[in-house]
Amino acid sequence: MASVFNSLDQAKTLRRLSGLPGREAALARTDSAHAFPTRVISVTSGKGGVGKTAVVANIAVSMAKLGKKVLIIDADLGLANIDVVYGLTPQYNLNHFFNGHVGLNEILVEGPGGVKILPAGSGLQQVTHLNALQKVQFMEGLDGLREVYDVVLIDTEAGISENVTYFNAAAQEVLVVATSDPASITDAYTLMKLLSIQFKQKNFQLVVNIVKDAGEGLDVFQKLTLVANRFLDISINYLGCIPYDKRMRESLRRQRPIVELYPDGKVTEAFESLTQGLLNLPLDLRLKGSLQFFWKSFLAISQAEGM
Ligand SMILES: Nc1ncnc2c1ncn2[C@@H]1O[C@H](COP(=O)(O)OP(=O)(O)OP(=O)(O)O)[C@@H](O)[C@H]1O
Ligand SMILES: [Mg+2]
Repeated sequence: MASVFNSLDQAKTLRRLSGLPGREAALARTDSAHAFPTRVISVTSGKGGVGKTAVVANIAVSMAKLGKKVLIIDADLGLANIDVVYGLTPQYNLNHFFNGHVGLNEILVEGPGGVKILPAGSGLQQVTHLNALQKVQFMEGLDGLREVYDVVLIDTEAGISENVTYFNAAAQEVLVVATSDPASITDAYTLMKLLSIQFKQKNFQLVVNIVKDAGEGLDVFQKLTLVANRFLDISINYLGCIPYDKRMRESLRRQRPIVELYPDGKVTEAFESLTQGLLNLPLDLRLKGSLQFFWKSFLAISQAEGM
């Protein structure tokens, strides 16, 4: 951790000596334009295919409809990603930034409702192996982003690989997506157990997807709470459930989020309620309150863990 911050301090000193405006000026600029800190939410699951990307794609658009500036970090190297769901073809990813070809603003692509997407792509592996100078460049790139975001949603891969774990450990909120499939419940438990023991993450948000009725969602919540209360020192906040809707398939085929395609549908109502639940969560003003802080934590964790 020390080396990340030391190198940032060194860069600051260098800039002061050379009279260049830098991180502090950028932060002052963003602070005045933006009274509230950014909320960083990582959307994750133990088992794959439970609807993480669907949740991210739809709550991002719901939040944008409420006037929030939203950035999605697409940290899933799998197939049906945010770009597919939104019908986008990003030209660049973080890899291009680290190789010095483009700035961070050029990597961002715009999705429905003005939602911005940062495709991590193959650059994801590189983030955890940056040298001190690259880390400084990365932080400065973040400072130089044109927009300041109210919410950052991270679409992670499933499971407990190190990469996913670091994203979850660094985020302000961890939103676990599960279904009533017993394997999904067991894997959600394993994920929360690892994060609580290894990274002292104690609070989790839960959404149960692809349910036939509200009772099915509640049942998953109760099962998870029962074992968590017995064996772990964590709290699980139930945000609600999303019904099964066969039009999700159509949404994928038409590459448009269902909240846009069917704004009056039941599933849209569920995503909007989930959005409200997330936005109503208290914001920790002291910690983890910005995109920069999030990435600094991510880099510090991955470095400490020796990835
Ligand atoms: N509420 C729902 N009703 C019906 N189908 C759904 C629902 N939510 C998601 N799906 C469908 O389930 C499939 C998996 O969803 P999605 O890709 O979002 O999962 P994921 O957790 O991101 O998967 P991965 O772990 O591979 O990244 C998709 O075909 C999606 O359209
Ligand atoms: Mg996905």
